[in-house]
Amino acid sequence: MGQGQITAADGGTWKLGDLVVTRIGFGAMRLPQTGRALVADAVPRDRDAAISVLRRAIELGVNHIDTAAFYFSPLRSANELINSALAPYPDDLVIVTKVGPGRDPSGEWGRAARPDQLRGQVEENLRQLGRDHLDVVNLRVMPSMTSIAEHVGALAELRQAGLIRHLGVSGVTPERLAEAQAIAPVVCVQNRYGIGAGAQEHAFVDACGEQGIAFVPYFTIAGAGGGAGVTGTENADVLAVARARGATAAQIRLAWALQRGPQVLVIPGTGDLGHLAANVAAAALRLTGDEMIRLTSV
Ligand SMILES: NC(=O)c1ccc[n+]([C@@H]2O[C@H](COP(=O)([O-])OP(=O)(O)OC[C@H]3O[C@@H](n4cnc5c(N)ncnc54)[C@H](OP(=O)(O)O)[C@@H]3O)[C@@H](O)[C@H]2O)c1
Repeated sequence: MGQGQITAADGGTWKLGDLVVTRIGFGAMRLPQTGRALVADAVPRDRDAAISVLRRAIELGVNHIDTAAFYFSPLRSANELINSALAPYPDDLVIVTKVGPGRDPSGEWGRAARPDQLRGQVEENLRQLGRDHLDVVNLRVMPSMTSIAEHVGALAELRQAGLIRHLGVSGVTPERLAEAQAIAPVVCVQNRYGIGAGAQEHAFVDACGEQGIAFVPYFTIAGAGGGAGVTGTENADVLAVARARGATAAQIRLAWALQRGPQVLVIPGTGDLGHLAANVAAAALRLTGDEMIRLTSV
């Protein structure tokens, strides 16, 4: 790493339970394929390219990787790529995975896991990552789930058994978070969030911070593009601030999220080494109060 290189450490750290993570993390969902993720006919990404991105993320100081066993394309699995690229794992690396959604081996979506199926999903992650415990497991709450109490209870038992260190929840309302917290400690909420979010979503981010819970947004760069990724059309205010700061729109989106509060941990996903470096460099970007107000009211 060259002298003066911006690293993830420039964005500061946060503790997920007892695990210290860089606030700039990395999302692995984009790695198994190019183009749209999570579709059965996804186009597998070049294996060496994906492995290079993971290794470079670690070189740039990132120690927080978000993944899931259901992140796969016909020929690539995010967990297997992480294992191949990074094992034996650095001592400080925190791998966060998620369970809940049902995806069969051919990539078709099925029913969300029942509580008694969560152990199998946790074990699938353990096998693929080559670990004997998972650092953090998020329960990805699906719209079909009317209550999450039994699911959280099942994960809490796996935590007691030593298979999981800490629990999080994803795709939740404040009410669902409270339901989970009544059963077990929750260290993070992973929800869709970024510039353009509404008042309730901003309030939820603040409420998580007040409770000492990490808020981990996804689609922070992709925004309205969601699963399809960056669309090519960008908001005029984001572009104006980017131009003024000599940064890219993606960097402004990440810097804005990081400045929403110390509890916000970003996990941008990319299969591109240049984008990875740019995303880590956003750690050093500090927006002014006026820029924050302008971007928050987009
Ligand atoms: N809990 C959940 O339900 C859930 C849902 C979705 C995602 N996630 C997690 O959140 C992570 C982030 O979500 P995401 O990857 O979908 O969205 P994202 O990080 O907001 O954006 C990724 C998209 O932006 C592009 N991109 C990344 N860096 C860029 C840069 N510097 N300049 C221009 N374009 C850039 C990527 O394409 P390139 O490859 O070309 O860079 C990709 O199209 C995922 O990887 C996954 O781990 C969780």
